[in-house]
Amino acid sequence: MRILVLSGPNLGRLGRREPHLYGSETLAAIHDRVAAAAAGVGATVECAQSDCEGTLVSRIGASGDDGFDGVVLNAGAYTHTSIAILDAIRSVEVPVVEVHLSNPEAREPFRRRSRIASACVAKVSGFGGDSYVLGTLGLIDYLRRRRGGHA
Ligand code: DQA
Repeated sequence: MRILVLSGPNLGRLGRREPHLYGSETLAAIHDRVAAAAAGVGATVECAQSDCEGTLVSRIGASGDDGFDGVVLNAGAYTHTSIAILDAIRSVEVPVVEVHLSNPEAREPFRRRSRIASACVAKVSGFGGDSYVLGTLGLIDYLRRRRGGHA
């Protein structure tokens, strides 16, 4: 079981970026926690971050061919704007879970609409870095249930 954990723009600056909103944990530290949690249930993760919409679109579109069973996606601000990422998610069979450190629905009005949520199997938000861990474990569980518990 292989999961792609993908983060979008400005998330490479976690730890220094608006810590009152996003906490002091770096993305690398979150990735370590996600990898450990996945390993604990017999799965592996590959973690990547890009500030570029096209790179995120390409990684999502290639996720099945690249051998991933699922994608955990924090699309950052593209969550609220990107029809291209929505279409990329719709273009693959691989299930995608939307995650956010903060709870966008409780913030400014322009963050309250997710362009991508309708194409995702689930969403975890508001738990800081734990949103990534919970989203990954939930996705692994979802995939195993879908396969009849034998993955
Ligand atoms: C975010 C929420 C988005 O609204 C924002 O643009 C981000 C981070 C989050 O993880 O809380 O970049 O996705």
